[in-house]
Amino acid sequence: MTELELPVIVVNFKVYAEVEGEGALRLAQECQAVADASGASLVACPPMVELSTIARAVRIPVFSQHVDALSSGSITGHVSPQSVRAAGARGTLINHSEHRMVLADIASTVRACRELGLVSIVCSESAESSVAVAAYGPDFVAVEPPELIGGDVSVTTADPAIVSRTVELVRATDPQVKVLCGAGVKNGKDVRTALGLGASGVLLASGVVKAKDVRAVLEDLVSGLKD
Ligand code: G3P
Repeated sequence: MTELELPVIVVNFKVYAEVEGEGALRLAQECQAVADASGASLVACPPMVELSTIARAVRIPVFSQHVDALSSGSITGHVSPQSVRAAGARGTLINHSEHRMVLADIASTVRACRELGLVSIVCSESAESSVAVAAYGPDFVAVEPPELIGGDVSVTTADPAIVSRTVELVRATDPQVKVLCGAGVKNGKDVRTALGLGASGVLLASGVVKAKDVRAVLEDLVSGLKD
């Protein structure tokens, strides 16, 4: 499995208009440049259709935004874990708030990722649901209250307790599983607070993808990784 350097900032490009076509490449290159200059650990999750292009273009780890709980074969339009690995992805988000999966599929997908050497980040909406998915032994659980996603207030400000409680409960379930937090994360202060609450990093999207000055925002975010 790819070992991610911790703490980590995972940038989910989602499928915003800003990252259609060449936009995804430009953003991934900004992430690479900031990772190079700062030594920070950054992961890029480009739109699915750009996965292979981006994985070939940058050296930072590139993750898929989703995989289906299906294996290679007669599965038109689906995305198998095998296919994202072949495209150059080193891991994947699973069960994102905007792409939920049933528990049985989360379990089999985490297992498939483990067998293929893909890093798995399972998203969850609460401390309790984080415990349920941590039991499957993913590499990471990313707790993101859905109502804060895409908003202006960071989870670390609006609901710091959900982060610390998730860290506590997941650690009690399986100390190997690391916790990320996300929703509304925008700046270095939010990152620093997340780490102070026990998270191993953050998962964010709009704060970077929709920023006027992407480079400045990324630089500010990585400053939060330092003591
Ligand atoms: O996957 C990250 C995400 O759902 C949080 O989005 O825009 O609130 O950073 P955002």
